[in-house]
Amino acid sequence: MVPAPYRIERVKRETHDTFTLDLLPMDSTSVSSFGPGQFNMLYVFGVGEVPISISSDPANCPALEHTTRVVGAVTKAMGRLKRGDVVGVRGPFGSHWPVTEEGGRDFIIVAGGIGLAPLRPALYALMRQREKFRKIVLLYGARAPEDILYRKELEHWRGKFDLEIQVTVDRGAAGWRGNVGVVTTLVGRAPFDPTNTVALVCGPEVMMRFAVMELQKRGIGADRIFLSMERNMKCATGFCGHCQYGPSFICKDGPVFQFDRIEPIFGKAEI
Ligand SMILES: Cc1cc2nc3c(=O)[nH]c(=O)nc-3n(C[C@H](O)[C@H](O)[C@H](O)COP(=O)(O)OP(=O)(O)OC[C@H]3O[C@@H](n4cnc5c(N)ncnc54)[C@H](O)[C@@H]3O)c2cc1C
Ligand code: FES
Repeated sequence: MVPAPYRIERVKRETHDTFTLDLLPMDSTSVSSFGPGQFNMLYVFGVGEVPISISSDPANCPALEHTTRVVGAVTKAMGRLKRGDVVGVRGPFGSHWPVTEEGGRDFIIVAGGIGLAPLRPALYALMRQREKFRKIVLLYGARAPEDILYRKELEHWRGKFDLEIQVTVDRGAAGWRGNVGVVTTLVGRAPFDPTNTVALVCGPEVMMRFAVMELQKRGIGADRIFLSMERNMKCATGFCGHCQYGPSFICKDGPVFQFDRIEPIFGKAEI
C-alpha cells in the first residue's frame, strides 16, 4: 500500500489537455512488471492519488509512462509537475488485455479519446509478436485533429508493423483530410474475420456501448470482446468498495472485463 517514489524523467505535452509522464524508479520498491491494460495509483504528494493506466511498453518496465487528461484537482496538479519532480506509484493493479492469446487470430482495437492510453501497451505487445497474429486493426476516434494522441507513433506503426490504422475525428478542421464521424461508424467496414477476431475496446462508456453493438452486428461473440471500465477508486486492492460494479470490483476484477461477464449490467446508469 506504500507508494514507491518515481522521478519524472520527461514530461511530454500530447495535446492541449493531455500529457505523458515518463517515470524512473528511485529505489527497489518499484513496479517490476505489468500487463497491458493494468493501472497504477499515482500520488501527487500533498494533493491526492488517482488511478492512471500504464501507457508504455511492458518490455521497458521498470520505466513507466502514464498519459493523463486534466479533469480535476489531482490531474491538474499532476499537469504542473516538471522533470525531476517525484510522484508516488502504487501498483500495478487489475486485469489485463488478452494479448497472449494463441496465435492465428485477428485483433480489432477500438479506442476513443484518452482510451488509447491503456491500449497502447497492448499494441506494443501485439507488435512484439506480430508474426503470430493475422490482421491487427486499430480504429481510433478523437474529438478534433488537435486531440489525436501519439500522432507520430501512429504513423510510424502504420508503416512499420503491418497495422491497419483508421483515425476519425468528431469535428473536422481546415487541413484535415481524414475521416469525420464517431469511431463506432468505422467498425462496420473494418477488415477482419469476425469468426476469428478478438476485440479490445476502451473509451467513454457511451462509445463502448455503441462499439459493442457494432462488433456484435459484425458477428464477434461476447466472449471475444474485452472492455476497460472506469469508476472512482480509493484503495485499488478490493477493500474499500468504492469501485464496486455489480458483483465485481473494478480495481481487482477489472478494469479489463470479458464482455459476457458484465453484459447484464453494462450500460445501466444506476450501476
Ligand atoms: C482503472 C482506471 C484507469 C484510468 N486510466 C486513466 C488514464 O490512463 N488517463 C487518464 O487521464 N485518466 C485515467 N483514469 C481516470 C482518472 O483516474 C480520473 O480522471 C482522475 O481520477 C480524476 O481525478 P481528479 O482529482 O483530477 O478529478 P476529480 O476532481 O476527482 O474529478 C473531476 C471530474 O472527473 C470525473 N471523474 C473522476 N474520476 C473519474 C473516472 N474514473 N471516470 C470518469 N470520470 C471521472 C468526476 O466525476 C468529475 O466530474 C482512469 C481511471 C480508472 C478507474
Ligand atoms: S478501489 Fe477500493 S475496492 Fe476498488
